Amino acid sequence: MTVLATKRLPGPAWDELAEVEIGRPDRLRDDVEAWIVVGERVSDAELDLLPRLRLVANYGVGYDRVDVDACRARGVAVTNTPGILDAATADLAFALLLAVRRRVVAGDRAIRAGEWSYGWSDVPTLTGDVSGATLGIVGLGRIGSALARRAAGFDMRILYASRTTVDDRYERRELDDLLRESDIVSLHVPLSAATAGLIDARRLALLRDGATLVNTARGDVVDEAALVRELVSGRIEAGLDVFAHEPAVPAELLDLPNVVLTPHVGSATTATRAAMTGVVVENVLALQRGEPLVTPVP
Ligand code: 8YV
Repeated sequence: MTVLATKRLPGPAWDELAEVEIGRPDRLRDDVEAWIVVGERVSDAELDLLPRLRLVANYGVGYDRVDVDACRARGVAVTNTPGILDAATADLAFALLLAVRRRVVAGDRAIRAGEWSYGWSDVPTLTGDVSGATLGIVGLGRIGSALARRAAGFDMRILYASRTTVDDRYERRELDDLLRESDIVSLHVPLSAATAGLIDARRLALLRDGATLVNTARGDVVDEAALVRELVSGRIEAGLDVFAHEPAVPAELLDLPNVVLTPHVGSATTATRAAMTGVVVENVLALQRGEPLVTPVP
């Protein structure tokens, strides 16, 4: 069975796959039965080139780049890697929260520029608190819940907005109210038709002056142009791991002191990425053995 992968995945489990061709479906391939994708678009155009495909194994929990309906219509199964990257992604969200809120990166830059008076000078000024602040979590799934547990250790008041989850340990709010009441808002919804542009210009305007927005979910959950305007104005601050047009990052953000940027690395720890590879490999092996897939998307 020919297995195609866009790139070699990290970790020892990869070697359990007997043979993998590294490449993209750039021509008609009637031998490929499994395709391992790392953020590539999978739509009718790509599927047309792979008529014998039986599995799209997505390296990541979010499979918004995969047209699942188009796959289903052709009898192609789709798997993802749920559950194993929650801690790493929640850790990064909390790292961004701390870094933005306490101006860690701006402080580092100041030191390197020989500006020890940082904190007493006009720019940047003293910062907002983390401990005791109100955190609004948008989407209380596995990663949102993992963030809430971390925030509880920082004595934060925790609000959440969720269509599906109810958790009595935290205060549930309608999204607009959560945005109005929070000092810090962190996004943890999957990207779908329902969540694309969820945090639009109107909702961004509901954020308090000086509020912090953290996005480790997907760039398209936010109206990026409206976010850039708010950040350039200096009214709010943000920690962003994801962007609407990755790898492109809006140029306006690059010099702003109120923004910390990371290149979509929520799951990028050695152990987490190795575990993700393990799940991808298990799914491909299950297909090869004619066994049920381990993590089919719902
Ligand atoms: C990426 C992610 O998939 O799991 C997700 O949804 O966004 C990440 O884990 C991973 O970085 C590979 O692109």
